[in-house]
Amino acid sequence: MSEKQIVVIPGDGIGEEITAAAVCILKKAAGKSGIQLHVERHLAGGAAIDAYGLPLPDSTIQAAKRADAILLGAVGGPKWDGVAPEIRAEKAILGLRKELGLYANLRPIRVAKALIEFSPLKPEAISGVDILLVRELNGGIYYGAKNEAAVVNGVEQASDLEIYSTPEVERIVKLACQAAQLRRKQVVSVDKANVLASSRLWRKTAQETAAQYRDVTLSHLYVDNCAMQLILAPKQFDVIVTNNLFGDILSDEAAVLTGSIGMLPSASLGDGTGLYEPIHGSAPDIAGKGLANPVGTILSAAMLLRYSLGAEEAAAAIEKAVDQVLVQGYRTADLYKPGSTKVSTEEITSLIEKQLG
Ligand code: NAI
Ligand code: MG
Repeated sequence: MSEKQIVVIPGDGIGEEITAAAVCILKKAAGKSGIQLHVERHLAGGAAIDAYGLPLPDSTIQAAKRADAILLGAVGGPKWDGVAPEIRAEKAILGLRKELGLYANLRPIRVAKALIEFSPLKPEAISGVDILLVRELNGGIYYGAKNEAAVVNGVEQASDLEIYSTPEVERIVKLACQAAQLRRKQVVSVDKANVLASSRLWRKTAQETAAQYRDVTLSHLYVDNCAMQLILAPKQFDVIVTNNLFGDILSDEAAVLTGSIGMLPSASLGDGTGLYEPIHGSAPDIAGKGLANPVGTILSAAMLLRYSLGAEEAAAAIEKAVDQVLVQGYRTADLYKPGSTKVSTEEITSLIEKQLG
């Protein structure tokens, strides 16, 4: 048995319920793969503001850095909306991304067979879609020099600088190629190289970096065409890699194809500890009622096993168990329709746990 240290940050709202569900599944799947997990709970977000007066205590940062992986629920809620801007709950997530150097955000775009009716696309267009979107998270226009609005030559103007260096592009493309090696080995790099100098460097660097992965095929798309292709023919994509701004927009576009916010996981990776969380927020409107869909967090736990613990089999087992429970017709309230069986957060979790065997 190998031993691994996991830091769990439940956060606020439904965070407590969904991380409890995911930890239960994570332990079960890891145990079956010969991994013993040690789970430590730490505070961040509103819960940390209440306890320490700040959203990301140093004890949480230090524990996160030492751990093999971090599982996060979600942070924030109306209770803390009035706090000073410098201690807002979201600062916890931005702070963790920065402290841990998490430069890659991975969002798998898959639709469970049983939930195809929730997609805005036609069943034949969405069925079988399995995309991994890899977004650069530490560079580009979000971090380049900004000039806030000021009057120049009698008119107000403002600017943001899109800037990428070769090492920044190399590391994200490497990560995309390595992820593709575990999948169908096709990477599409998305840029705007016809117009932007930063995109021309991106494209050239992507080409050179991907050449080191002989089993991976790289192609390029302009971002406007990629946005269109995601709607027209999403099945053509395996791994998509792109910069911070394009990735922000395309990942929301791609996520909505699958139809439900409660279902979708994400991973944020760097050179050290990886962080895993569902894409939704703390859903204060349903917190503490057993209504939360824990599947996005459970699938985030599967990504944790895949990318931080190298336990591909355990990860795939969780994904399969989730699919099976949905096929059997069990649904949390967000996905309930007459004809299916409505279950609580805890009930769907124990169904998934049983399915794991
Ligand atoms: P939200 O994602 O929390 O909720 C939007 C809607 O989706 C709500 O009706 C909610 O009930 C529903 N929903 C979300 N997750 C669900 C789940 N697992 N199961 C069933 N229904 C679910 O977004 P909202 O309402 O804009 O934000 C609420 C709080 O969460 C805010 O304080 C916001 O700042 C914070 N937030 C935190 C994020 C994070 O920690 N990464 C991300 C987004 C928002
Ligand atoms: Mg966004």
